[in-house]
Amino acid sequence: MLEIKQHISLKPFNTFGVEAKAKWWVEVTSEEQLLELAQSELFQKESPFILGAGSNVLFTQDVERLVVHNAIKGIRVVESSSDWVRVGFGAGEVWHDAVMHCIDHHWGGVENLALIPGTVGAAPVQNIGAYGVELKDVLHSIRALDRVSGRMVTLHSSDCAFGYRTSIFKAEAKDRYIITEVVLQLTTHSHGLHTDYGAIRDELNKKGVLSPTIRDIATAVIAIRSSKLPDPSVLGNAGSFFKNPTVDREVFERLNTAYPNMPSYPAQKGVKLSAGWLIEQCGWKGYREGNCGCYEKQALVLVNFGGASGRQILDLAQRIRESVLHRFQVDLEAEVNIL
Ligand code: FAD
Ligand code: EPU
Repeated sequence: MLEIKQHISLKPFNTFGVEAKAKWWVEVTSEEQLLELAQSELFQKESPFILGAGSNVLFTQDVERLVVHNAIKGIRVVESSSDWVRVGFGAGEVWHDAVMHCIDHHWGGVENLALIPGTVGAAPVQNIGAYGVELKDVLHSIRALDRVSGRMVTLHSSDCAFGYRTSIFKAEAKDRYIITEVVLQLTTHSHGLHTDYGAIRDELNKKGVLSPTIRDIATAVIAIRSSKLPDPSVLGNAGSFFKNPTVDREVFERLNTAYPNMPSYPAQKGVKLSAGWLIEQCGWKGYREGNCGCYEKQALVLVNFGGASGRQILDLAQRIRESVLHRFQVDLEAEVNIL
């Protein structure tokens, strides 16, 4: 039975912990409920906004829309061979729990993505990534309600235009699909381990692990992440506020001459810079202004110390962006979805 509510506070439903009200609110726990909702006048009229765990959104005002909280659960094995298994996860499953479920079943592929907050259904939206792995590397297909045709559709990885922190769901097909299930293709043995990124190797060495299992990698990733990133249940945040910018070779050469210690990474088109480093150079790391600020251990993470509004956080983000642009002539793009 669908229970539609009005003027619901979204504070408990976003990891920044900012106050905003939803004009309309409904939780869906099954595909059938979603299809029923899609027939309603409210759904047609009130421009639905799909909310998972709210760990990649910043509410800067009340949401004058129908907020649909995706709570569709369920895990099923769709297909398997001697080498791989395809597993479908309901969009409302908690991403980290899905990762640990895979590890418990000895299914490899998502261990580097441990401890990323949020739901499974949001993972394809920005093609979540960490420690050398992105969702697209393990995604088989997505089941979704297509709001244009009103029908359930299956999208394969190649349909989703995945890129660094982007996909069709965040760009040309924004708000078109409501993802209900994500099918991952995982290895059942001979897992392709990714241990060369960031501090994973050091963390494994520290523990004396020479031949890591997928669980060892997840444990290492969890330890690294916990030491660097604030826990949203303690300090409101949405992870990296900006994307790491990619600049062309010419810009890179200019900056590299001026700042030889600047971290940089090869990218598909040009060179990727570290937004955290650029922000830190502008003096923002550890900065606090009233109830919001820039995390002391990671300049790319903006934090709500308690009681900050979405507008205050956005205002700080804009000034950070301007100062980076002024000093380095590099424009930062928000990763977080701003409403
Ligand atoms: P929400 O914030 O609820 O929604 C995000 C967007 O997806 C919205 O536009 C929403 O409309 C859309 N959406 C959500 N569910 C659906 C659905 N079922 N169908 C269609 N659209 C949908 N991200 C990374 O990539 N890598 C990281 O390492 C990482 N680390 C983080 C660390 C911290 C401490 C925090 C707080 C965040 C981090 N993030 C990271 C960002 C965040 O965890 C991911 O973007 C996550 O996928 C968001 O999931 P969510 O359920 O909270 O989505
Ligand atoms: N750095 C600084 N100062 C800072 C922060 C970073 O100088 O305050 C420099 C350091 O040189 C460091 C480098 O930046 O070596 C990279 O930092 P880090 O390893 O912390 O990673 P990141 O580039 O800041 C990205 C993702 C994270 C992801 C990690 C690990 C983006 C926007 N962010 O952060 O994703 O967990 O790599 O793969 O790509 C997220 O998207 O929300 C997120 C947390």
